[in-house]
Amino acid sequence: MSDATKLIHTGRNDPSFQGAVNPPIHRASTILFERAEDLYGSPKRSYGTQGMCVHDSLKAVLRELEQAHSVQLTNSGLSACTVALLALCSAGDHVLVSDNTYGPVRTFCDQHLSRFGAQIGYFDPRIGAKIADHIQPNTKLIWLEAPGSLTMEVSDIPAIVAVAKASNIWTAIDNTWAAGWFLKPLTMGVDFSIQAATKYPCGHSDVLMGTIAAGHAKASAVLAKYNQASGNINSADDAWLVLRGLRTMGVRLERHQQSAIAIAKWLTTRPEVRQVLHPALPEHPDHQIWQRDFTGSSGLFSLVLRPTSEKQVLAFLNALDLFGLGFSWGGYLSLAVHCDPQLVRTAGHWVADGPLIRLSIGLEDVDDLIADLDQAFAQIT
Ligand SMILES: Cc1ncc(COP(=O)(O)O)c(C=O)c1O
Repeated sequence: MSDATKLIHTGRNDPSFQGAVNPPIHRASTILFERAEDLYGSPKRSYGTQGMCVHDSLKAVLRELEQAHSVQLTNSGLSACTVALLALCSAGDHVLVSDNTYGPVRTFCDQHLSRFGAQIGYFDPRIGAKIADHIQPNTKLIWLEAPGSLTMEVSDIPAIVAVAKASNIWTAIDNTWAAGWFLKPLTMGVDFSIQAATKYPCGHSDVLMGTIAAGHAKASAVLAKYNQASGNINSADDAWLVLRGLRTMGVRLERHQQSAIAIAKWLTTRPEVRQVLHPALPEHPDHQIWQRDFTGSSGLFSLVLRPTSEKQVLAFLNALDLFGLGFSWGGYLSLAVHCDPQLVRTAGHWVADGPLIRLSIGLEDVDDLIADLDQAFAQIT
């Protein structure tokens, strides 16, 4: 079966559905037992922190999508990253983090993981097999994000995984951009594929959720042990909403893809734009790696404007009518943000000759979105 069919047909056979297409929402903390003898050691679900049937259905769909051995849910995309980091790293471990990683993950590593005695090192996302030069005897984990959600570099995942495997080092990737749809990192030997389900799986900008897919039994065991001990659980309502979002994610992503590529191409013709950072464009420096490893592209990309004042950048953003100004991405509504205040680099440097803008292309008519950008460019003189 193709992913499109799996997204629709997986996780729908539980008798608790009572014939309905979608699962019931059980709000539960206490789960009652008939007999005191069964309270301890029963194989049955015993407390709401283990999730209910809606959580089971959601995990089943995600397992299929990511081709995973198991999936854990967490209460935001950021918490999926921090749960994975805490599950895998101990005092004295060295963690290698891609320099283009989502900013709050960097903050967590620098301010908190380090507090527990882990040593953090950053590497250039385009490092490829040269990651070997950064490996130390205590390196425990390599953390990737591809493409980086602001600057859009695509790392050479197979080259980095090969080095990691040779040294018995865990690998984890933030797979939010590809949504588990356009990239299957677990089939490439990555141990953990992490997503902010807040973005494309939810698709409607109204739920926060994270997912951690483990590629094999050893990875599942480490993750489950920590996640269950940590008390992480999502409400049944949120699980239901993300499950409903996933059922239509395939068609939404195809539309996000088409519109984003059309807009990216149009932007390359604009005099106000110095560079469009979209890996599906042949001129993107990592286009060939993207073409080799991904089956498509989602709706998020960035552009570098020709050097212009901050005042004009803000005027351009403020002039947008259809694009909302706001953080996050992957929903039906198109969004725009300027990124320079978020950029932090410590391994090598990010060179851009102008202000960086990020667009999340939603599901509006593409010509309307282009017209909106066109009229807003009038603010840049
Ligand atoms: C690449 C990436 N990973 C993780 C997250 C965190 O997701 P959440 O907003 O659900 O915490 C984000 C949020 O924007 C993101 O862009």
